[in-house]
Amino acid sequence: MTTMTGPTPVTGAVGTAHTRIEGLDKVTGAARYAGDVPYAELAHGWLVLSTIARGRIRSVEADPVLAMPGVLAVLHHGNAPRVNADYTGLLGRPDPTVAVFQHDRVPFAGWPVALVVAETSEQAREAAEALVVHYDEEPHDVAFFAGHPGTYTPEGNPRMQAEAGKGDLEAELTASAVVVDAEYTTPQEHHNPLEPHAAMARWDSGRLEVIDSNQGSTWVAEELANLFSLDPSSVRVRAEHVGGAFGSKGVRPHQVLAVMATTVLHRPVRVVLTRRQLFSLVGYRSPTAQRVRLGADPDGRLRALDHQALNLTSKVHEFVETSAGLGRVMYDADAHHTVNRVVALDVPTPTWMRAPGAAPGSFALECALDELAEKCGVDPIALRARNEPDAGPVSGLPFSSRNVLACFQEGARRFGWADRDPRPGQRRDGRWLIGTGTAAATHPSGVAPSTASVTAEPDGTFTVRITAADVGTGARTALTLIAAEALEVEPERVRVRIADSDFGQAMVAGGSMGTRSWAWAVTSAVRELRELLVLGDGIPPEGITARSNTAEAVGALPMRERHAFGAQFAEVGVDVVTGEVRVRRMLGIFAAGRIVNPLTARSQLVGGMVWGLSMALHEEAARDQASGALVGADLAGYHFAANADVPLIEADWVDDPDDEDPVGGIKGIGEVSIVGVAAAIANAVWHATGVRHRHLPIRPDRVLLAGTATA
Ligand code: MOS
Repeated sequence: MTTMTGPTPVTGAVGTAHTRIEGLDKVTGAARYAGDVPYAELAHGWLVLSTIARGRIRSVEADPVLAMPGVLAVLHHGNAPRVNADYTGLLGRPDPTVAVFQHDRVPFAGWPVALVVAETSEQAREAAEALVVHYDEEPHDVAFFAGHPGTYTPEGNPRMQAEAGKGDLEAELTASAVVVDAEYTTPQEHHNPLEPHAAMARWDSGRLEVIDSNQGSTWVAEELANLFSLDPSSVRVRAEHVGGAFGSKGVRPHQVLAVMATTVLHRPVRVVLTRRQLFSLVGYRSPTAQRVRLGADPDGRLRALDHQALNLTSKVHEFVETSAGLGRVMYDADAHHTVNRVVALDVPTPTWMRAPGAAPGSFALECALDELAEKCGVDPIALRARNEPDAGPVSGLPFSSRNVLACFQEGARRFGWADRDPRPGQRRDGRWLIGTGTAAATHPSGVAPSTASVTAEPDGTFTVRITAADVGTGARTALTLIAAEALEVEPERVRVRIADSDFGQAMVAGGSMGTRSWAWAVTSAVRELRELLVLGDGIPPEGITARSNTAEAVGALPMRERHAFGAQFAEVGVDVVTGEVRVRRMLGIFAAGRIVNPLTARSQLVGGMVWGLSMALHEEAARDQASGALVGADLAGYHFAANADVPLIEADWVDDPDDEDPVGGIKGIGEVSIVGVAAAIANAVWHATGVRHRHLPIRPDRVLLAGTATA
């Protein structure tokens, strides 16, 4: 057998900087995305969305459009194949928005009402734009605000109870020497990946084949099998390259439409969503209204922590933005209460978006902590240290590892925090007021069952197969390093194939759980392979393959609070004339377990911090109350940070060993980096101006209106 059993540690694998394996293909255009793969006889679908926010479709005037050049079909609720959305999938019940064209009701603006299929994409678009749809309109309600009638507390789930608590909140608040009681809001925000959602579907010898852009190909395959009542083994979904996802790329209308159209037309059909369509069809981050009450002793020790969060959902599906979950991990208090509430409006369903719950929740909680620090006259970092819990504040479970204070310590040293004058409005640079701020970050490090296979090839190389998704993070490269380390060979001898549902079930690229979950499956398969290789003599032409399934091991994991942590630091300048806030520098220090590939890890962390900056200062989707539709639903109207807004950002990490972790101490890094950024920036704006900004984004008009407490 080959040389994989040697005791020599493999250099150049886990912990070593590696460029992306597919990087050259991507920058040269050789990498094919879902919308790029050519097929003979390919037809093109173009989606038509509702222009009303609530009502019924009276008629779809298909005939004139069917006479247009190249048009092959117009699918709508009157003629579309039936689907079954009454099932519970991997991540819960499907959003009925994917059960397209099943009835004439319109529950929000931007609801799918028809698909025009034509020989070319241009013909489909021309016809789709010409399609006349008549509606019976009904009154709608799209106004989100705290205290909206119909607000309710959802059931929650085992991973995240809607409401949790201990102690007598009101009594502890009354007994507190210092109290902060503040309301915060965050707006509707969109994850609009560079590559829009696209899928090609075709029937091939009785099997449904889908070329997609998604976060989990077995996940999407299972959803499609459920929706179309197919044997799961007769559905194959692949997503070789994915140009960003951020929570938006699960089963969405585009795959379902492509399958419907290919079933009707008996030829391959591709459906690519437009940039504007993404704004209503692939989810978004709900706006939030949050109230935080903190009660403390004079030294800042928390007696009471109350975090109440509200988000919206659609009338067709419940989505809970778990903004209040953060305090359950971060801070203990004698009385502790956190609740996530929901109100259903006539709007599209929101969904997971990078650090769901934690991103908006940390803005409220970490700003409130800063307000408490100010009131107590305690340094914000010292305040956090004073409230560092020994165990999960609500669960009582031990932390697997918790190095948030090490992050603050290292961050403070590198950022120069010790020299900071705690008083606001003390630094000026021309017309700019300068301030610094900090905030904590955290995100759960979960793991979910996955399968993998590893094949020892006769030529001395190894092939790993796992239905992972590389959504642009470098997952393919990370798994190559992980496999190489486990095999004790150089990464060059390992080939990792991903994103093909035929490889078997695996965790999706989401929840910062991908690398951790997949790594476990890969290293388990390698362990099996080693045993096979020890037993065997020589490798046959087809190679020797070992398989793993971590389902049982995941089920047997001891209960721990397992999270990544971080400390965010920001310095801002506030222009007192224009109200513009500019971030001057940011530093994020993270404790995120074992870092697999420092190069892509750093890039992912910086990316999250850039998004946090964008959330703090720019991003905000505006819904027109009269029409119920978004205003400026494109990347011109929806502001986000551009290069000129982004200063020097540094991201680094501290040691965060977890020797008892059977998965090898890998935590996720996809989401922790956005958490706390907006709070650090808002806290810095307060430090600059002496004025608290509790509503995102911190726009120039808001800064001007609020003025400064010091000028
Ligand atoms: Mo992400 S929001 O966990 O896909």
